[in-house]
Amino acid sequence: MLPGEAVMSFLNLCECFSCNELWVKEFNSPDTKLKENIPIVDNNYVFELNVLNEVLLSLTSKEHDCLYLTGPSGCGKTSLVQQIAARLGWGVEQLTLCGKSDIDDLIGHSSLRRGNLCFEYGPLVRAMRFGEILLLNEIDLMPPADLAVLNDVLEGRPLTVSANLGEVIKPHRDFRVVATANSKGSGDRRGFYNGVRLQNQAFLDRWRFIEMTYPSVRAESVILKKCCTNLPEETLNRLLKLAVELRRDSNEEEITSVTSLSAPFSTRSLIRVASIFEQCSDFVEPSRIIDMGFGSRLPAVEREYVKRLCADIFGNEAFQEKCAAQEKTQTESVADKGRIKKSVRRSTKKK
Ligand SMILES: Nc1ncnc2c1ncn2[C@@H]1O[C@H](COP(=O)(O)OP(=O)(O)OP(=O)(O)O)[C@@H](O)[C@H]1O
Ligand SMILES: [Mg+2]
Repeated sequence: MLPGEAVMSFLNLCECFSCNELWVKEFNSPDTKLKENIPIVDNNYVFELNVLNEVLLSLTSKEHDCLYLTGPSGCGKTSLVQQIAARLGWGVEQLTLCGKSDIDDLIGHSSLRRGNLCFEYGPLVRAMRFGEILLLNEIDLMPPADLAVLNDVLEGRPLTVSANLGEVIKPHRDFRVVATANSKGSGDRRGFYNGVRLQNQAFLDRWRFIEMTYPSVRAESVILKKCCTNLPEETLNRLLKLAVELRRDSNEEEITSVTSLSAPFSTRSLIRVASIFEQCSDFVEPSRIIDMGFGSRLPAVEREYVKRLCADIFGNEAFQEKCAAQEKTQTESVADKGRIKKSVRRSTKKK
């Protein structure tokens, strides 16, 4: 071993992910210096084998491929990277980009500290120096000309920080770049994701793309069981059916019919609706719950359509019958209480 060289220890990936069907079995343990940047393990996160295999293959590649995860909003792109990093003990420098993000947000800027001018490193430099994953969320919102600053770095070359007297930053062996976005960089034809920009093809050519979709019905069923432990099985199955129907109706590529929805029913929305069910399904009807958790963000016609779909799937009559039955039991118990009180009064009078 050469002086100064880090000691390598290997991680057994099948053990890390409790899964024997992984394509990559072993990986050098990341040498993360900033322990506080290692994400916290979320035990409710459910990995889908195909996408997990593809992401691990890319993160562990010899060429240190840069990864572009694309897919609809709320399908789990950001959390997937965080949860993989959490299980591997890999630090993450996360930055969510927007239309006004610029090079300084990535590289850093000069600032005054106790009267001295010093350079504050940005997430890109920190990740390169400390061997972390640079997670760039919503990369397709950032102006393409500014993103060109990443071109050399994406190919594994050092970064020259001209704002810091031309300092040269060499990439650590564990430095990786992962971007997430709702588009593949070719704009947003439907207007679903307003603000998305058409990206530069030379820039896009430097990434390995993985297209994600919403988790399968089976995976979402496990997610809901983990997140909402008190949700009755029947409600869970109906919610999953609703998700399938709503996603069929929201086509991001084009408007297919009058019932095409203008907003995605994401895994995020599904979890939100399920937790409202857990809170109040005994006294609020299903279509109102779904309206609170999702429908109210839609234009009037679509909102009404969702309400009717809910009534079909959940059967509001069944809910009304349940309420009527509950009311009957309550009235009966009130009457019973009345009868008990009367008999108590009668017996005290006798005494
Ligand atoms: N496989 C999963 N297991 C558990 N929870 C999940 C899963 N996928 C998504 N979620 C939950 O759904 C929510 C949205 O996930 P996340 O933020 O990762 O989506 P995203 O694809 O990055 O969305 P956006 O495009 O809006 O940034 C999170 O709260 C996450 O916990
Ligand atoms: Mg995200």
